[in-house]
Amino acid sequence: MAPPDDLDTILRFVWDELTRAATDGASQFRHAQVATIGAQGWPQSRTVILRHADEAAREVGFHTDCRSAKAGEIAAQSQVAVTAYDRPQGIQIRLWGQADLHNADDRAREAWTALYAPLRAPYRTNFPPGSPVEVAGTADPTDAARSPEDPDKGFTNFAFVPVRTVRLEYLHLRPTGHRRARFDWGSGWQGRWLAP
Ligand SMILES: Cc1cc2nc3c(=O)[nH]c(=O)nc-3n(C[C@H](O)[C@H](O)[C@H](O)COP(=O)(O)O)c2cc1C
Repeated sequence: MAPPDDLDTILRFVWDELTRAATDGASQFRHAQVATIGAQGWPQSRTVILRHADEAAREVGFHTDCRSAKAGEIAAQSQVAVTAYDRPQGIQIRLWGQADLHNADDRAREAWTALYAPLRAPYRTNFPPGSPVEVAGTADPTDAARSPEDPDKGFTNFAFVPVRTVRLEYLHLRPTGHRRARFDWGSGWQGRWLAP
């Protein structure tokens, strides 16, 4: 689809792309950088896989380990920024919103159940993400973690994180002139052009 050039179509394009990213491994927007506010005030940014988008709820979502640094940062301060870039299209999407950490509840259960079983193994390690290990590979999933007797093992470490969006930005790099637009949520989405 040709990139749009009016605000309504851009908003439609952004949500269509985010929705596709949540399910389509080929989407360039599937890998997104999530920035949180770190405990010492440093911004913290890392790549996650977008696994959920719900335009009506203004949500995008990802999975994480609730023992990770980002989970603690979100629990302390829920404001996050998310950035994704589609290189072939030359389009960047940025969004800002409130992240919510769902652990051991219905939304976590729904996401855990839908997760391809081999991807549950990392949540079964006894080594929390970021904990120091003496030897590389110490925290690799064991055979027992890959095929546990209890398929729910690790569920308590799993978190589903929806981000409720309050602002979106679209940037399209074009040789003939870049296009940048911002959408703020009020009673609906209010869009405006920005100088790129
Ligand atoms: C391609 C790619 C996809 C990733 N997807 C996720 C993800 O969906 N969730 C996640 O928690 N970490 C994911 N990671 C790992 C994070 O980028 C990060 O290294 C890790 O979660 C620790 O981050 P933290 O210490 O800031 O919590 C991914 C990394 C890469 C390179």
